[in-house]
Amino acid sequence: MYPSLIDRDLAVLWHPCSQMRDYRDFPPLHVVAAKGSRLTLADGREVLDAISSWWCKALGHGHPRLLAALEQQARAFEHVILANTTNEPVIRLCERLLAMANGLPPEVWGPSAPPGKVPGHFGKVFLADNGSTAVEIALKMALQAQAQRGQSRRTQFACLQNAYHGETVGTLSVGDLGLYSDPYRPLMFPTVTLTGLPYRTGPDDPRWLDAAAEWPAIEAQLAPHADTLAAIIYEPVLQAAGGMRLYSPDLLRRFRQWADKHNVYLIADEIAAGFGRCGKMLAGEWAGEACRPDFVCLSKGLTAGVTPLSAVLTTDAVYDLFDADYAARKAFLHSNTYTGHALAVAVANAVLDVFVEERVLDQVAAHAPVMHAALRRLGHTRPYLHNFRGLGMLAAVDITDPRQPGTPLPSGARTGYHVYQEAVRRGALLRPLGDTMYLFPPLNTPPADLEAMTDILAQSLDATLG
Ligand SMILES: Cc1ncc(COP(=O)(O)O)c(C=O)c1O
Repeated sequence: MYPSLIDRDLAVLWHPCSQMRDYRDFPPLHVVAAKGSRLTLADGREVLDAISSWWCKALGHGHPRLLAALEQQARAFEHVILANTTNEPVIRLCERLLAMANGLPPEVWGPSAPPGKVPGHFGKVFLADNGSTAVEIALKMALQAQAQRGQSRRTQFACLQNAYHGETVGTLSVGDLGLYSDPYRPLMFPTVTLTGLPYRTGPDDPRWLDAAAEWPAIEAQLAPHADTLAAIIYEPVLQAAGGMRLYSPDLLRRFRQWADKHNVYLIADEIAAGFGRCGKMLAGEWAGEACRPDFVCLSKGLTAGVTPLSAVLTTDAVYDLFDADYAARKAFLHSNTYTGHALAVAVANAVLDVFVEERVLDQVAAHAPVMHAALRRLGHTRPYLHNFRGLGMLAAVDITDPRQPGTPLPSGARTGYHVYQEAVRRGALLRPLGDTMYLFPPLNTPPADLEAMTDILAQSLDATLG
């Protein structure tokens, strides 16, 4: 008699970001197929992927265009070292990413993008293979660029309260989520954590575009570090892991003005918020043209979760600080084996095609309000639901104490986790952040599936909280 698949799993596999003991009572789902926003389980059940599989499946599972690009590239070559070699697809991807991030129209970065670099704010792309590494690259580049422009005292980073930038020691250092970083604190470097952010509920919030009230206190926290900061790092507008919090894009405008005045770089981590999630190709676009950062980190939606890939975009001005004779030791000598993996690059080119051909941003504009309204309606009969927020294909709400609405429940009660269990039983994969429930479905999820996700969330809340 062979052990069951779950017994075999628990015997050998250490799942990410999990207390493994939880799986003894509530085993991991046995997935055998996935298509669009649906996972098929071994027992035949279908489960809606309401979290885009850790926020990366921007175009759903098994998109035929992306799979075709993967197959076609695999027939040519699957990966060749990207130091000392080049190829047309990787050049094309860099040209297109730059044009997209520079806010140019889709004709310049879509399927019929002409070859060649179109001048703009961002001028160079450095590739890697996961989000955390992209952030590490941006931190390293910013530090080295400051030193190479004669600002070697600038070794500090400012980051935001509730920030999350990944799991490596460097990215944990610029994050603010003790749940994930506390055990590693002895390894982490000190940072300046900015508090009192202008949190808002979304574009409907009357103060969405106005951070004037909060800015003086934030500027006062930056001021003592004006001569020692290398960069300010932030997730533009949406702090995903930190509780699906939204803040006013006006903060980004103010960061840009302050950073320009004090020779500090800005690093925008668009890994969760970018690629259409917030209703625009990049979430930073909410702040307008004039306040582009010096570095942008992309991953997740970049390949719509088909293959791992990440990218750091920066300006020609930053790049020029590294351009020197070899003996000057100014090169950026960062390497990852899978940098610019050709299969991932082929998929990323196809993702840009799909965004334009299938008018993905228009789909978000049409369907996101339906999802926001549906989630908001849940609160009409459930007063314990607080702080609805929504932007693009994201909607979130916090569960609070039904006896004292607005007061957080004790974290030990694990209410969000119980709602998650109920939702899985009813056919939706949620992954609450504590007691924050959210929907983060593929951008092209059909309205009927969005409604089904909200219905299941409602039933699961009722089953858990009465
Ligand atoms: C904003 C942000 N930055 C960085 C990362 C890390 O990316 P990865 O998990 O690919 O290392 C994440 C992952 O969720 C993220 O949400």
